[in-house]
Amino acid sequence: MIDRVTKESTMRHEPNAATFFNGFAETFDTIYDQKRNLFMRWVDCTFRSDMFIRYALTFEAFGQLRGRTILDIGCGSGPYIVEAFKRGASRVTGIDPAPNMLALVRQRLHQNGFGENRCELFEGTFPDTSVKPHDCIIVMGVMDYVADPQTFLTALKPVVKQLAVLSFPSLHWYRTPFRKFRYRLRRCPVYFYDEALIRTLCANAGFGDIRIHKIPGAGMDYHVCLKP
Ligand SMILES: C[S@@+](CC[C@H](N)C(=O)[O-])C[C@H]1O[C@@H](n2cnc3c(N)ncnc32)[C@H](O)[C@@H]1O
Repeated sequence: MIDRVTKESTMRHEPNAATFFNGFAETFDTIYDQKRNLFMRWVDCTFRSDMFIRYALTFEAFGQLRGRTILDIGCGSGPYIVEAFKRGASRVTGIDPAPNMLALVRQRLHQNGFGENRCELFEGTFPDTSVKPHDCIIVMGVMDYVADPQTFLTALKPVVKQLAVLSFPSLHWYRTPFRKFRYRLRRCPVYFYDEALIRTLCANAGFGDIRIHKIPGAGMDYHVCLKP
């Protein structure tokens, strides 16, 4: 059972990420659909290739989804939600504090011929929104904005029945300060990780099987698979 979280309480816990992504929702969504101008498509291919690689790695890790329940924490505009349904998921739950992102999820579901009857969307943050266990959990592009990753991961553990896949942004000598600066201007703090820190956080949260893969090349992200 999921407790609905009011917009006010969401804003109290994650004010900056929620506000930033609410305003950025439409633009963010165009990255997936390659609707941007030539220059921005070059920027996306060069600096945001991780978004596409982690998407492919996630569904490769899940394999068959027929009949499974999926929870997408920080679902954004819903590309993973729709893909999970295409792969046979029985139910999908999405959580995101940005109402404009959730509006785009509903639009994406309808555009792809999926109704909302097997999809529950909740406006809120994790772990402030309590959720029942799901077979597979997606946490993509979210740990970047989580100020207390240990509390987040510890709350995640009892929710995972089979497999959770997460991305964590890595530290890079010039891209990290540049990204910090850009997000400081947006008043949205970002957080970075190395492999040792990810392993310690996940082990402390109680996960028994921790697989960490650094996305190569221009990659900035770690793609992490966790089993209970
Ligand atoms: C970079 S977007 C990624 C969206 C989607 N997962 C994807 O990969 O396309 C990050 C999303 O996480 C949401 N978010 C940030 N902190 C969150 C939290 N603690 N709980 C749930 N969602 C969160 C933001 O509102 C935003 O929509």
